[in-house]
Amino acid sequence: MTQELAPTLSDQPAAQSAHSAGWWRDAVIYQVYVRSFADSDGDGIGDLRGARERLPYLADLGVDAVWLTPFYASPQADGGYDVADYRAVDPLFGDLSDADDLVREAHRLGLRIIVDIVPNHTSDQHVWFQAALAGGPGVPERELYHFRPGKGVDGELPPNDWESVFGGPAWTRTADGDWYLHLFAPAQPDLNWENPAVREEFESVLRFWLDLGVDGFRIDVAHGMIKAAGLPDLGVREQAKLIGAQVLPFFDQDGVHEIHRSWRRLLDSYEGERIGVAEAWAPSAERLALYVRPDELHQAFNFQFLTCAWGAEAMRKVIDESLTATASVGAPTTWVLSNHDVVRHTTRYGGKDTGLRRARAAALLTLALPGSTYVYQGEELGLPEVEDLPDAVRQDPAFFRGDGQDGMRDGCRVPLPWSGTTAPYGFGTGGSWLPQPDSWKDLSAQAQTGDPRSTLELYRSALALRRELPGLGDGGMEWLDGPEGVLVFARPGLVCTLNTLAAEVELPVPGRPVLATAALEFTGRAVRIPRETCVWWAV
Ligand code: GLC
Repeated sequence: MTQELAPTLSDQPAAQSAHSAGWWRDAVIYQVYVRSFADSDGDGIGDLRGARERLPYLADLGVDAVWLTPFYASPQADGGYDVADYRAVDPLFGDLSDADDLVREAHRLGLRIIVDIVPNHTSDQHVWFQAALAGGPGVPERELYHFRPGKGVDGELPPNDWESVFGGPAWTRTADGDWYLHLFAPAQPDLNWENPAVREEFESVLRFWLDLGVDGFRIDVAHGMIKAAGLPDLGVREQAKLIGAQVLPFFDQDGVHEIHRSWRRLLDSYEGERIGVAEAWAPSAERLALYVRPDELHQAFNFQFLTCAWGAEAMRKVIDESLTATASVGAPTTWVLSNHDVVRHTTRYGGKDTGLRRARAAALLTLALPGSTYVYQGEELGLPEVEDLPDAVRQDPAFFRGDGQDGMRDGCRVPLPWSGTTAPYGFGTGGSWLPQPDSWKDLSAQAQTGDPRSTLELYRSALALRRELPGLGDGGMEWLDGPEGVLVFARPGLVCTLNTLAAEVELPVPGRPVLATAALEFTGRAVRIPRETCVWWAV
């Protein structure tokens, strides 16, 4: 690795004009799931060099920043969300100089880079956990995690009734009889954030990556680090879900906010507006807004929007609740439709033609709303979930732990199709770690480029317009009247109409159409908007 630090984005002439203060308030941020994005060395697994080589595609797409999922040294028990060394790159993905090169190249292209930080738990291969295990009951390293004696006559029962998000008990017994807590897989022991050594270590890790030049962090399980004092029983035999209305003794505890406040101070001590985005599955929009108070994190994924069913009424309600909650703390809303943990929205919205139609319309809706938006790799290609993966190729630990969180997150992680007519479709030269469907030859970036009806060109146009039209991004919006099933709202200089119905609707022409997800039919002063179609109108 070069000794000199990577320049920050604000040092880059190309970037200065494209980004202003508060860049994150309306940024479009593209999620790269590293192992499935682009493979440079032919091992069938995406890597940092592959990602760097594809950065021009992302600059051309028109996004502002890129979030990279964990590429740190890890046994890969949970796709890298089990980190053994927070300051090292796993050889699967490259080395530190590849990370450095990627950050530099991104900045040269005017793109910011956000990396993942996984503070709720380490890998069971982390030196701390290994020392805790080897040392036996009572060693100080056990205080870095949650070790407890079991219940029952011989301590044969877990210390409490918590269940893992991936299914099964949240406790595993060690050879010496003590149990340790893991809200996720047994290979992911939860850290004890009441221990100052844990806090110090993570501040040092954050500095390590900030010094390397990253522009921020996506904070994994940002709502989970603090557990209720005494680790009280839940009292109900219910599978823990990442999202839900329940108040749980291990999620969304008030104590997590002090950690985020301290991280904000650290981020602010660096030049160039480095940001934190919370993956916080809070039970309500109001609870979520607490994570983006002025002295906390910059963004928090709006999972209420992600999980909202298709339909005008439901969508309008979530949009209103989200905007009201974030406005009450002066923060923008962070829209998201998909990520590496959920079924791709093309499939969630009904799959096949219906799902794709709705997904395209939802993308335009989202990009017209005030705030920032995350785009999950492949959604710009309209990729569906791969639902028929053979069990033998699956790697999601939730799949192997029974009826845990959704059980199967591999279907949204299938490597991207870039070009060509046979697998791995330009993903790399040596196959792909999950098989890509034959139908993906028509969905590759190459196949869609230049076709004005393609989803890729729709995203390119929308992102270009987002930069051109001053009324998009941050700022206010106003609902306008529309027929039932149709959402109509105004942004400065723009009206957005979304027909959620399965039938066409006729409206008075609201303005000059600048982008639509399907062909419109004009009859005098009226326009027929096809079923499940979103249109942007300049006014
Ligand atoms: C987050 C990640 C998910 C991971 C879990 C445990 O929800 O997005 O992929 O399995 O945390 O780290």
